[in-house]
Order: sequence, then C-alpha cells, then structure tokens
Amino acid sequence: MNLDKVVCYCMNVTSGMIKNAIDNGANTLEEVQSATGAGTVCGSCLDNVQRLVEQFVAERADK
Ligand code: FES
Repeated sequence: MNLDKVVCYCMNVTSGMIKNAIDNGANTLEEVQSATGAGTVCGSCLDNVQRLVEQFVAERADK
C-alpha cells in the first residue's frame, strides 16, 4: 500500500497518517477523525477512511 496516498483531500490526510493514528492507539473511525481531522469536512472520503481504519486495526491486531 502507498502510505503517501492522500485519502482525505479536505484535510490532506494520507493513509500513513491514518496508520500512525491507529498505531498510536486510535481504534475507531471517530478516534481517527479526532486525531487526524480526516473526514471532518465534506465527508466524501468517509467510506475510504473507514475501510483503512478497519484494515490498519486488523493489521495491528495481528502483530
Ligand atoms: S475529502 Fe475528507 S472530509 Fe472532504
């Protein structure tokens, strides 16, 4: 996965920033939103952000 890919254009949040938030303890979409601002403006990225949150939480749980 390209961690430099921008997921949320309103807040300029990349996949890697979402991964960091989860590695630092965020577990839910809401916690990632408050940590990164992703998905807090127009909301059009929310499905993608949600998918990444689920994926990164699952990957972290596998470690
Ligand atoms: S693209 Fe993420 S809130 Fe607009």
